Amino acid sequence: MGVGRRVTRRNFLGLTAKAAAAGVAARATVLEPAWLRAQTSAPVAPSDRVRFIAIGTGTRGCDLLEASQHIPGAECVAICDLYEARHQAGQEALGRSVPATGHYQELLDRKDVDAVLIAVPDHQHRRIVADARAAGKDVYCEKPMSHTVEDGFAMIAAAEKGNRILQIGSQRVSSILYLKAREIVSAGKLGQLTLVDASWGRNSASGAWVYPIPPGASEANIDWKTFLEDAPTRPFDPVRFFRWRCFDDYGEGLAVPVHRDTFEVRSICHVAANCSVVAEVSIPAICSSTCSPACRSSRA
Ligand SMILES: NC(=O)c1ccc[n+]([C@@H]2O[C@H](COP(=O)([O-])OP(=O)(O)OC[C@H]3O[C@@H](n4cnc5c(N)ncnc54)[C@H](O)[C@@H]3O)[C@@H](O)[C@H]2O)c1
Repeated sequence: MGVGRRVTRRNFLGLTAKAAAAGVAARATVLEPAWLRAQTSAPVAPSDRVRFIAIGTGTRGCDLLEASQHIPGAECVAICDLYEARHQAGQEALGRSVPATGHYQELLDRKDVDAVLIAVPDHQHRRIVADARAAGKDVYCEKPMSHTVEDGFAMIAAAEKGNRILQIGSQRVSSILYLKAREIVSAGKLGQLTLVDASWGRNSASGAWVYPIPPGASEANIDWKTFLEDAPTRPFDPVRFFRWRCFDDYGEGLAVPVHRDTFEVRSICHVAANCSVVAEVSIPAICSSTCSPACRSSRA
């Protein structure tokens, strides 16, 4: 995208990923694309405005909603979450009140919605992506793309139907920091790359993913039944709901969210060498990830 290019529906989702990935810090950094900065105050034609909904307004969904406020022409028109308190969290992240529901299908049925941001636990990605695509919406879904390999193929099949965008968001590969890294490597500033050594540590006293459970969270304000769709039936368990990454039914363990991040570092080289994230180059890589004993022992 060159400087001066206007924001259109087609490039909105990519922009969202980049802004979200770079976060608040990016707003003022030299890495922010000039063409995006230049049009922050530029009016966006009604036909180019993107009206979107957010499904899942937990940690990541709120990050995305905050970031969306810096995308010209982006307009969140409704949010959805299974935990009532997260409706307020989403509205606070957005900085204004929008309709909130626990039933995303109601929002997908709206004809005035162009796009959908999906930031729900991994085991729900396949179904919600498929439903959003069936409703004819452009989709941005958080990484990791799928909970299982089969889910991944089903999502690709859903993506291939119709002429809408499906983007899987990944903090690093979507980040403008990567573009900068590509620039540095492509310019030969690092010389010839012969080895990439990447590591990622998640050691902490409490263990990764052992998030606090809000007092008052109960089956009265959490739609536990819907959370369990595409997962084994169990009695209500707030530990599973709030620390879902620690359980194989909903997350994928260390290998996917953390070790995958180290592979992303390696993919800088792919991007750098080929100016394309899809092309591969053969550079030996050592990737390792660590997590604390508390994290390992909490997985079930
Ligand atoms: N937190 C991060 O830093 C981060 C980074 C990258 C990617 N991600 C990805 O983003 C996604 C969300 O992660 P998170 O950390 O925000 O989790 P979270 O537990 O903080 O939030 C998930 C939210 O989704 C809601 N939800 C679950 N099923 C739903 C449904 N069917 N309809 C509507 N809402 C539903 C839950 O109530 C919860 O509020 C995951 O796929 C995760 O891997 C998170």
